[in-house]
Amino acid sequence: MGKTILITGGAGFIGSHVVREFVYNYPSYKIINLDALTYAGNLENLTDIQNADNYEFVKADITDQNKINRIFEQYKPDGVIHLAAESHVDRSITDPTAFVMTNVIGTVNLLNAAKELWKDNFEGKLFHHVSTDEVYGTLGDNGLFTEETAYDPHSPYSASKASSDHFVRAYHDTYGLPIVLTNCSNNYGPNHFPEKLIPLCIHNILNNKPLPIYGDGKFTRDWLFVKDHARAIDLVFHKGQIGASYNVGGFNEWQNIDLVKELCKQMDQKLNRTPGTSAQLITFVKDRPGHDLRYAIDATKINKELGYQPSVTFEEGLSITIDWFLSNKEWLEHVTSGDYQKYYDKQYNKSN
Ligand code: NAD
Ligand code: TYD
Repeated sequence: MGKTILITGGAGFIGSHVVREFVYNYPSYKIINLDALTYAGNLENLTDIQNADNYEFVKADITDQNKINRIFEQYKPDGVIHLAAESHVDRSITDPTAFVMTNVIGTVNLLNAAKELWKDNFEGKLFHHVSTDEVYGTLGDNGLFTEETAYDPHSPYSASKASSDHFVRAYHDTYGLPIVLTNCSNNYGPNHFPEKLIPLCIHNILNNKPLPIYGDGKFTRDWLFVKDHARAIDLVFHKGQIGASYNVGGFNEWQNIDLVKELCKQMDQKLNRTPGTSAQLITFVKDRPGHDLRYAIDATKINKELGYQPSVTFEEGLSITIDWFLSNKEWLEHVTSGDYQKYYDKQYNKSN
């Protein structure tokens, strides 16, 4: 009989691609998508697989230990892939407590439920915690984050993710819970919520609105196509060493300003606009407090141990992403109506 895998945060950006990867690749598994459907969770991300025989959605909040225990008791998952989180740095600056609740307490609740369910026999069980490179803090002009880099988070978001990583390792060291961690760089791709840099700029270019660049725009991020992150999670979940961490990235660093210029170039081509039109929307705004200068992942370990490599270049991935947004304008309209407008006005009208 196939395994039952519980994926948390499966209605979000990355989670929906992970759910799809598992539903398609493992027809003998039962995939349970557990999600609270916060502002970032959207079942429209999963319409193509919502009726699949091996898929089920369960609405639940991971901060509710009793409910989580009941769900573990009912479905008896063999594996957990944990992505549910508050994920946006700017929101964490406004409301850090929400990040502690979901990212720290929620993770501990899941660890407790897994430990209780699996306590008689850990054989064949696995808790895969999906984390971020932001736990390592910031780099100067040189160097890369390896799995051995000391944690040094600066934002409430990265502090909450770092804390959750420590709890996951503590449950392994203290109780022997079988765990694995992945720490990935910035993702981009279809279904990306337009509060993050790339989809926000795509949305604003479509609407001829300013493209807000924080500070001098020289902050650097290492970008990975979301489907390549989902593939990496699949690989590590099935072949990773228990107790280990794997950094995931594409050796693909971009300064924000260069990335947005590349995006403007591709958007002008695809929208048949005169070259240079979209770039005129670039507007430098007040910097983010505590803004990390540079993230860059050394992905040698996952490459050497598990043979992992990204499947697309950044230019290809960006082109696929823009095409997706251009053909899914309804999705974009749905997620940018209502609460999004309130968030946007609060976040950007204060700094413009
Ligand atoms: P997202 O914000 O798009 O999605 C988060 C999902 O979690 C949503 O579906 C939301 O409804 C759900 N959720 C939030 N709080 C919940 C709660 N209390 N109970 C149950 N569900 C809840 O996030 P994302 O960008 O897809 O990130 C997914 C994971 O990957 C996160 O753990 C994040 O830290 C990590 N990560 C993200 C990136 C990135 O670039 N986005 C990079 C590396 C790692
Ligand atoms: P973001 O997509 O929020 O991801 P993260 O902060 O997790 O890396 O931001 C990516 C980079 O883009 C980061 O350096 C902040 C910057 N940024 C802007 O310049 N303007 C914006 O409107 C946003 C949302 C981000």
